[in-house]
Amino acid sequence: MHAMTTTLGHPLAERRRTAAGTHGAVTATLGPMASPISGGRLDGVDLEALARRVPTPFYAYSATTLDARIDALQSATESHGIAVRYAAKANATLALLQRIAEAGFGADIVSIGELERCLRAGIPADRIVYSGVGKTTVDIATALAAGVECLNVESLDELQTIERIAEASNRPVRVAARINPDVDAGSHAKISTGRAEDKFGVSPAEARAWFAREQASPLVRLDGLHVHIGSQNLDLAPFHRAFAQVAQFARELATLGHPIASIDVGGGLGVAYRDGQRPPGIAEYMDTVRTALSGFSGRILIEPGRWLVADAGVLVTRVIRVKNTGTRRFLILDAAMNDFARPSLYDAWHAIAPLTPRDGTPLPHDIVGPVCETGDTFARDRLLPPCHTGDLVLIHGAGAYGTSMSSNYNTRPRIAEVLLQDGRYAIIRRRQTFDELIAGEQPARHWESA
Ligand code: LLP
Repeated sequence: MHAMTTTLGHPLAERRRTAAGTHGAVTATLGPMASPISGGRLDGVDLEALARRVPTPFYAYSATTLDARIDALQSATESHGIAVRYAAKANATLALLQRIAEAGFGADIVSIGELERCLRAGIPADRIVYSGVGKTTVDIATALAAGVECLNVESLDELQTIERIAEASNRPVRVAARINPDVDAGSHAKISTGRAEDKFGVSPAEARAWFAREQASPLVRLDGLHVHIGSQNLDLAPFHRAFAQVAQFARELATLGHPIASIDVGGGLGVAYRDGQRPPGIAEYMDTVRTALSGFSGRILIEPGRWLVADAGVLVTRVIRVKNTGTRRFLILDAAMNDFARPSLYDAWHAIAPLTPRDGTPLPHDIVGPVCETGDTFARDRLLPPCHTGDLVLIHGAGAYGTSMSSNYNTRPRIAEVLLQDGRYAIIRRRQTFDELIAGEQPARHWESA
């Protein structure tokens, strides 16, 4: 646990500017493809020049865009005393986490790896909530030892395990029951989490029984409720239904003698990946939270992930070649599904455009990577002006669930990440070397009996 408390040292120059310094200037750019690229520059950095110094593909993040989101969220929450617990899974790169920590936000984690990252980035344990259906005894013991703010509990077995570990280690912990409200968020099936058939949370009926039962340990304080119905939600109505149901349940529990100290409404607020998508604004979303929870006097927490980071990031990639098969025109990029999995996993639509468009009639392209499967496709039939080998192409909206979901498939190294601000850049993750990629592997020389 010791190493976990070290925080990253960062030069002052990299720190986020004050709300007054950035807010007004950039909010106008929020929206589809919000990373403000103009004249080939992102946050004042010439991407063509950057790509001569940093090998493509790489992720580039606009610190100004990220700061604008942070500032907007602070303004929307602070005055109402609502606590932000950033969902680290969206992007857990240390330098970004540190920026989020500096805003005073806590984190929502789903693994001990994320706990380590958050602590190292300077997020205090007492601002870290821990969700997930599969916490092991080691996970729970580690979280208790670190002193996390709350465990969001998803089954009776988990609650009993927490009680045993709290007793054995003599460590107190707060827990919240994650409610499955049986509300369909209307998002992609793979990222909807609030329907009865989903693995997440428990029904109010089951949670009621938890509150009624004799606690097996006085060290475990069950006085919170949690709900998270899914991700990339563009409609406020399902949020309202789920939150109102949880608020009603909190009132019921209070009358039964179980006052609820906190309600955590999860994350899920969507962003505009394409023109025409109209996600609710942060103010409308916060109104929904407050309206649905009106009358609840305890603490309110929110766990946004995507909303904070998606628009800040672009994936900068280069055309390896254009392959014309007669029936299809393939634009083969040096980025692949292992670097950015959203299109192949969820058929997610991302804006993709050459940094410097060439003249010529736009033609339909299938935009693909070098990985050996047909699923390695970023877009089909996308109209693009003619592109040539060596052209830089940007995949927009790549700040969330990009690097955090990347892998080494096809023995491709994890790519670099670069933070940009006001014409300067800092490498915040360098590209993995081959030796780093295979570190930990060894020939089967020492055979032992189990
Ligand atoms: N809280 C909990 C308990 C969650 O499970 C999640 C996301 C969040 C908060 C944050 O949700 P957000 O605000 O980012 O929507 N890989 C998928 C998204 C998976 C989301 C999983 N849970 C994608 O690329 O769309």
